[in-house]
Amino acid sequence: MLNKLKRYSKEEINNLMIQSTGVNYTDFEQEGIGFEYEALMNSTGYSLENVKEIQTSFQVGNTPLIELKNLTNYARKFAKKNFGARIFLKDEAQNLSGSFKARRAAMSIYEAKRKGYDGVVAATSGNYGAAVAAMAAREGLKCIIVQEAFDSSFKAQPEILEKARACEAYGAEVIQVSVGPELFMVLLNVLDQTGYFNATLYSPYGIMGIETIGSEIVTQCQQQVGKNPEVVLVTHAGGGNLTGTARGLLKSGAKTTKVYAASVSLEGLHMASDHDFNLKSFTTGHTGFGVPFATNPDRSDVPRSAARALRYMNEYYTVNQGSVFFITEALSVLEGLERGPAGNTALAVAFKLAQSMPSDEVIVVQESEYTGAGKHHQAQLSFAKQNGIELLFSDHQVEIPGKTIVLPSSANTIQVFKKDLNDLRRSYLKRYRLDDLTERDFNYLAEELNTDTKTIKNLLSEGDHEA
Ligand SMILES: Cc1ncc(COP(=O)(O)O)c(C=O)c1O
Repeated sequence: MLNKLKRYSKEEINNLMIQSTGVNYTDFEQEGIGFEYEALMNSTGYSLENVKEIQTSFQVGNTPLIELKNLTNYARKFAKKNFGARIFLKDEAQNLSGSFKARRAAMSIYEAKRKGYDGVVAATSGNYGAAVAAMAAREGLKCIIVQEAFDSSFKAQPEILEKARACEAYGAEVIQVSVGPELFMVLLNVLDQTGYFNATLYSPYGIMGIETIGSEIVTQCQQQVGKNPEVVLVTHAGGGNLTGTARGLLKSGAKTTKVYAASVSLEGLHMASDHDFNLKSFTTGHTGFGVPFATNPDRSDVPRSAARALRYMNEYYTVNQGSVFFITEALSVLEGLERGPAGNTALAVAFKLAQSMPSDEVIVVQESEYTGAGKHHQAQLSFAKQNGIELLFSDHQVEIPGKTIVLPSSANTIQVFKKDLNDLRRSYLKRYRLDDLTERDFNYLAEELNTDTKTIKNLLSEGDHEA
């Protein structure tokens, strides 16, 4: 449908956003570097109760919270006496379209319909595309999904191809582009030419949609164990999953529950590199998105992303690809739940962390996703082999992303690595200089990075010395 791609100025992009989302992002800008985050979130006019009602009408949400008793017992084999927290899994695979992304999509589609748009557009290679396409189909809206699908030799990962098939099965048109900056430009052109709604992942509608996960976890934990969980573990990439879940927990009174991020470590692989594109076995939930989106949330497809993970993240863990494959298999053979791959990233970390927590404590892994032909770990491992990746079993989880996948020789050898949040904050602050900022800016940054203004000033002054 696209002939020649137009390049847009900043002002034209802002106008396109107003036309395609109904949100004028400039209304929320503060003087200085910040913006009114809560005002942006509240601008939708929806309460948590409204969101629940809308999602119920789409057959989305109210997914079961399942206690993984066998997996917990397995983890306890490697823990000290009276250690090994109870592991629960929020089975988001049971949503229409098979993942928590249905919660985001339901809100965007509801809004598009309410505002009278003929169709919706979303830029996504993963579960979100299928979710948007499925909900659009129910509401009789046209749907275009723009996918970053292949490298320059037109090779695509099995998972991405499967997602394209799913979108087409729901009646959507799929535009596939190769890796690189083209995606955003194609999206803008499609929005401009069609006048459709921008069902972006990063709008306040999308993020509000995820708040219901946090809220349901509180209700279900109260019913099943009589308390809030000590820890909620979130597979983290673009940050919406963590932001929405944490906001929902807080809105439902779980003020002391800790929210931990988990990503597959893809250190050394470059996401925008044509060469590296097909050398990874995970298309989301990895550090290639998790780190840059946390440290620069506004790199998304809207001027101000509503997904701002560092505001809510208490700790951040990484795990290697092989360990996630191992846990994927353990979940199937011990619990009869064939799920994965993304949600199992948080599960792999939960399995390890549970061992250092007392046995009466509760860890909730807040999502699973469906698995299928292209997403299944066997398909992923075959694709990795075809791309020259060496598959090894070892006691030592030293994987070199793009070269090896190391499967743990025993569950006992699964390792997780804790990131220093101050390193992420330093990276966020890199674009500012201490002397250029006002007190208002420091207050904004303290909220943004979930710390105090003194820490912000200290981190910034380190940066100034380095420069
Ligand atoms: C199943 C699943 N889990 C987790 C994530 C990560 O969510 P977010 O990008 O909001 O951090 C994604 C997103 O691609 C996903 O599809």
